Amino acid sequence: MTAPKIIALAGSLRKDSFNQKLINEAARFALESGAEVEVIKLADLDLPMFDEDIESQGTPPGAQLLKDKLRAADGILLSSPEYNGSITAVLKNAIDWASRTEQGALPAFRNKVTALYASSPGGLGGLRGLNHVRDILSGIGSLVLADQLAVPAIHTLIDDNGRINDPLMVDNVAGLAQQLVSVASKLNQ
Ligand SMILES: Cc1cc2nc3c(=O)[nH]c(=O)nc-3n(C[C@H](O)[C@H](O)[C@H](O)COP(=O)(O)O)c2cc1C
Repeated sequence: MTAPKIIALAGSLRKDSFNQKLINEAARFALESGAEVEVIKLADLDLPMFDEDIESQGTPPGAQLLKDKLRAADGILLSSPEYNGSITAVLKNAIDWASRTEQGALPAFRNKVTALYASSPGGLGGLRGLNHVRDILSGIGSLVLADQLAVPAIHTLIDDNGRINDPLMVDNVAGLAQQLVSVASKLNQ
């Protein structure tokens, strides 16, 4: 059986993004579970705001790269910051770019199993935004795991090396990553 291919990303451009750190940790656990994992930082893709006029001149390289990597993946680890109770513009923009199909190409999200994470310094951990992310991804064909994880007070749980320092939270983050790898492996058979 070949190892499932997993893409990990977070919906923030911020250099010290908590959600990026959280998904880096989830990616590490997915790797330990036997998956082939690649972490993508949206800040590196330099995506313009989606505009059909820009697209008609050619898909920007970062958008094409994201689309190609998602198409080749079996599963997605996604951490979504919460802005005003919802998805960040950065994440929605990335989804919009990646969702666009060319003739003969496969949709980037269809039949990809996705594990949703969120984190916030606040008390709900970004939970409210996950409903919106789930709705968007389900609507474009992603198989979003029923289980999800919103991590409150994230600033108290991640150390200077980007490692989660709370044993219970390590178990929770690892458990969801392992579940994603397990389901992606079965779909990949
Ligand atoms: C415009 C804006 C709106 C925000 N709204 C929320 C919110 O609704 N719920 C919440 O828990 N945190 C909210 N926050 C705080 C973010 O959770 C916090 O900035 C977090 O660090 C963002 O994620 P990141 O570290 O991955 O960039 C908001 C921050 C900004 C800038």
